[in-house]
Parts: sequence; C-alpha cells; structure tokens
Amino acid sequence: MSSSSKKKWSDRANAVLPAGGFGNFDSSVIIERGEGARVWDVDGNEYVDFLIGSGPMLLGHGHPEVVEAVEKQLKDGFTFFATSTPGIELAEMICGAMACADQLRFVSTGGEADMFAMRLARAFTGRDLIVKFEGAYHGMSDEGQMSLKPGRLLNFPNAEPDSAGILEGVRDSVLVAPWNDKEYMSQLFAEHGDRIAGLIAEPLQRIIPPQDGFLQHVRDLCTANDSILIFDEVVTGFRFAWGGGQEKYGVTPDICTLGKTIGGGMPLAAIAGRQDIMELFDKKIAGKKWLMQVGTLSGNPVASVAGLKTLEVLSRPGQYEKLRGIGQSIKTMLSEALSKTGKPFQIVGDDTLFDVIFTKNPVRDYRDTFHADKKSQATYNKVMRENWILKPGAKIYPCLAITDAELKQTEIAIRAAAKAIR
Ligand SMILES: Cc1ncc(COP(=O)(O)O)c(C=O)c1O
Repeated sequence: MSSSSKKKWSDRANAVLPAGGFGNFDSSVIIERGEGARVWDVDGNEYVDFLIGSGPMLLGHGHPEVVEAVEKQLKDGFTFFATSTPGIELAEMICGAMACADQLRFVSTGGEADMFAMRLARAFTGRDLIVKFEGAYHGMSDEGQMSLKPGRLLNFPNAEPDSAGILEGVRDSVLVAPWNDKEYMSQLFAEHGDRIAGLIAEPLQRIIPPQDGFLQHVRDLCTANDSILIFDEVVTGFRFAWGGGQEKYGVTPDICTLGKTIGGGMPLAAIAGRQDIMELFDKKIAGKKWLMQVGTLSGNPVASVAGLKTLEVLSRPGQYEKLRGIGQSIKTMLSEALSKTGKPFQIVGDDTLFDVIFTKNPVRDYRDTFHADKKSQATYNKVMRENWILKPGAKIYPCLAITDAELKQTEIAIRAAAKAIR
C-alpha cells in the first residue's frame, strides 16, 4: 500500500482530531469518495464496501435518484427549523410502513432518538427503571452506555457504564438483562415490574437474532406490567423488511426508534409510536407530562428528501429479495470456505446483516461472543482488509449496489481469510 497521501492526511488528522479520526472506525482508513458498493481511500485504493456508512447507504453510494433529489432540495433551501414539506411526506411514509407508528418526531441521530424514547417511557409511565440487554447498542446517552460492550461480566441486572464521565446514579436506573433468556425476563419483571418504565431492545441484537418467541415474551411482559416496549430499529428499520424488525418478527412495540436508512445517509432519525404516547410531545395535550424536545436540524429538508427517495426506491418490487439474495450468497461463501479450516465457527445474523463468530457453541447472547475465539476473528478481519474488503469488526452490511464482480472479489477475500485462519 502506498503511504504518501495517507501519511499526509494522517498527520493532519492526528494534529486536530483526538485519536486521529472521528471516533467511529479504524482511523488508519481515510476515505476520499464512494460510488455504488465501492469506496476509495486517499491513496486511490479501492475497497468493496460492507461498512456502507455503518448501514445507511443501503442503495450504495451516490444513487443517481437520491443525488438528483438532494440537488433539487439544495436549491430550495438547506434548513428552515420550521416544519417543512419533505419531512411531512417522509413522516407519512414511515408511519405507513412501521406497524407501531401512528406518529413520529424527528431528531438527528439514532442515539438521540433512543435517549428520547427512554425518556418518553419514563414520562408516560411515571416510573424510573429502564431494562436494556447486555451488549445492546442504543447510542451514546448515559443509559445507552450501560453494559454496551462490558469488559467484565457482572451479575444481572447490575449495569456498568462503558464510558467515563457518567454519573454513578445512572447505574441504578438501568436493569441489564441477558438477551434471549425468557426465564430471566419473567423473574426480572416479577421483582421490578411495577417500577419498569420501559424495555429497549434491538430486534436483532447487533447480529444475534431473537430466539423463537423471545420478543413475544418481552412484549407480553411489558403489556402485563404496563411498561413501554421500545424497539431500537435504527439498524433494522427498512433494512430487514419494509416494516423493519417488527414486521419480520411479527411483534409490535409501543415505540420504535429509526435512523440510518430513513435519512439515506444524511443526519436524520426518529422516534415513532402509538398516538397516546407520542402525544406527550404535544404540550397542549400532555400538560404536566409534556416532554420537551427541540433540535436545530430535526426533520432537515435535505436529509428528508434523501430519506424519501431512498425509501421510495426500497418500496419497489424485488428490492428486499435482492438484498437477501446478496446476503445469502456471501453467507454461503463464508460457510464453504470456513468449513475447510477445521476451526469451529457460526454464521450469525439475518441475511441483511450478519457475520462470522468463531465459536463452537450457538450464539445466543453477548456472553457467547465474549468467549469466542478472538484471534481467528482478528485474522479474518485483517485478511479481508488486505484483500480490499471494508467491513466493521463484527458485521457485514450488504447493500443493493453489490454486483457480481464485487461478489467475486468478496469470495476471493473470504478464501484468503480462511486459508490464513487454517
Ligand atoms: C441499534 C443502534 N441504535 C442506535 C444507534 C445510534 O445511532 P447514531 O450513531 O445515529 O447515533 C446505532 C448506531 O450504530 C445502532 O446500531
């Protein structure tokens, strides 16, 4: 790999950015541009992109119809703060798609949406406790940081922040539970049900699917205890299916949060849910229960048109079948190549979002990934990168722009990774 441009850009980044980057992804990769399912770094190296902006670029980079819609909106105004027409249209489309959504409120990031969803559950119920699952990701709020990727495994339901700077008392407001453990959930609600404001869950936790009946079980527990069920659909919304994880798994939450795909790669997210809960955002109706929420860029028109066009393309016949087909092809490649290594592995996730975990045991929760073979995982990721595949550490995000040539390149990389692991 040539290092001239990269060195120059890294030096500049290191001078002005802590850890030399934006805090998101390996800062040694500095991207210059993207097109379709490919991105190019500052040295002109070309990668097949399975990071795709951490999920939002489901149509690939620079989709011509999205670009056209954004260009038109740029001439009509970048931002207004006032309610504007593209956001109303986008809200209509989302409320039409997501089973739980009578109404929605726009914000700018998924983490912000999750923070407000949890606050909404507290405001609606007048209770204090939030249940979250160990290893689940719900953004950077104080509650979201509890047992996100814990380095030590505490007894449930004890919570531990993954970040410094969080008030000690926040631990006491979050109950941490193991994903996919019905019995534990029953016990937790039996002990604390009358104090539980809400339970927040990713329908697919990172890449770990819910076991049969698990989401229905938490739905039933929330209903029985008058607690609010929140699905964090920031990733799964419009990726899993038109109606998100709630459609795929057939369980309807009280509120869901959305981000990533609904902004088509622009900063846009939303809290969507039942009318009687969403009305807490309306001061005239909610009175003392009013939940104040304001944001300069909420419902930004440029982001809204990018989201609208992205969703419109996704609504066309065959898109989800195509995405699932791409995912299935990659899963088959992984399975065939890795079975020759003699190392135990599991391909975990949905066809639209998955990866390999090197373990002999079925992966059912965070602790199963915690005990997996991290050395093989690191080799796999390193060799994929050396073969010009850009992917997150424990995820592959397929996108609709992937061509046969890119699938072929992916297969070559997978075979090289399998050889290195052997
Ligand atoms: C499930 C889930 N929720 C929330 C978030 C936070 O979204 P954002 O990064 O837009 O704040 C993410 C981000 O990756 C996510 O994966």
